[in-house]
Amino acid sequence: MKILVTGACGFIGSNFIHYLLDSHPEDNYTIVDKLTYAGDIHNLDDIKEKLDIRIADITDEKTMEELFYKKDFDIVVNMAAETHVDRSFIDEEPFFRTNVLGTTNLIKLAKKYHVRRFVQISTDEVYGDLALDSDYRYKETDRLAPSNPYSISKAMADLLCLSLSKGSELELIITRSTNNYGPYQYPEKLIPLAIDRLLSDKKIPVYGDGRNMRDWIYVLDNVRAIDLLMRKGTPGIYNIAYGHPISNLELLTDLLRSFDKDESYITFVKDRKVHDLRYALDVSKIESLGFDAKITLKEGLKKTVDWYKAHRSYLEVKKDRAYNDYLKKVYEE
Ligand SMILES: NC(=O)c1ccc[n+]([C@@H]2O[C@H](COP(=O)([O-])OP(=O)(O)OC[C@H]3O[C@@H](n4cnc5c(N)ncnc54)[C@H](O)[C@@H]3O)[C@@H](O)[C@H]2O)c1
Repeated sequence: MKILVTGACGFIGSNFIHYLLDSHPEDNYTIVDKLTYAGDIHNLDDIKEKLDIRIADITDEKTMEELFYKKDFDIVVNMAAETHVDRSFIDEEPFFRTNVLGTTNLIKLAKKYHVRRFVQISTDEVYGDLALDSDYRYKETDRLAPSNPYSISKAMADLLCLSLSKGSELELIITRSTNNYGPYQYPEKLIPLAIDRLLSDKKIPVYGDGRNMRDWIYVLDNVRAIDLLMRKGTPGIYNIAYGHPISNLELLTDLLRSFDKDESYITFVKDRKVHDLRYALDVSKIESLGFDAKITLKEGLKKTVDWYKAHRSYLEVKKDRAYNDYLKKVYEE
């Protein structure tokens, strides 16, 4: 099969491509990535000979059309996106350009060039948040109520994919997963940021009182779910989660323990104006296909800490001026 993966130099994309080459080496993989600050071509150094790598922007209609025309893809998996909520409050424009216009460009080309299946990688954030004491879990059929520019752009992309694929032969799968963690994640996101700070013996900045709850899934579990849906899922929307939401404070306490440090390494900073409280998903639909997340939070955090410890240079390279300016702006260090 000929498969296009966009955003494959980012966090989930790098893990996805490594997994695909291990589990399905017989397929033919093309990747497209613009290499924003979050993308790193070196994430694919060990497998680059096995890939057709195109450095390009998914919003570039001409370049993308030439690629679709030449390659005759069977499957397109769209992971290319601007992904950091904090940055979306600073400048929302790239979020709407890539996440909305870029996705629209790809889905139109997928229809025009008779791609069989289009997999749009979305997020649980499109549902909006829940009260901290709620035990509700969002279902795929629930209404969308995103609250920040990032999640709004992702919800718009979902709705456009649904609308533009309707009545066509294109099989559309939308995945909505909870927060991922694991190797190759840019250290502005909570877990690699915390690991980086602890490795440098610095305090971890935490928004508000740290009670916001997230359901962390190890990236390889999400990647396995995407692969399953890409090959065997009936077209539709699928939630993906580990299934155990915990507060940011509980998560960081676990991390601190693995560094033999205590809560004095947490520093509370002024909260964002809009900060979703709790996300939780009903995953019975994907479970009915035989999927469940295998890696416990304890195992996943250990694997993640070990990976960053063994790849200190990955964190150092990322900590350029842009990263430090960003930290300063967001956390008012
Ligand atoms: N990380 C999470 O916890 C999480 C959770 C749920 C859903 N998602 C979704 O999964 C997808 C991947 O997330 P991630 O965490 O790997 O993101 P990331 O920020 O690590 O990587 C995004 C990649 O997309 C590339 N990119 C950005 N704009 C592009 C453009 N215009 N053209 C081509 N490439 C472009 C970047 O260079 C980067 O390699 C996103 O769609 C995101 O919304 C992520």
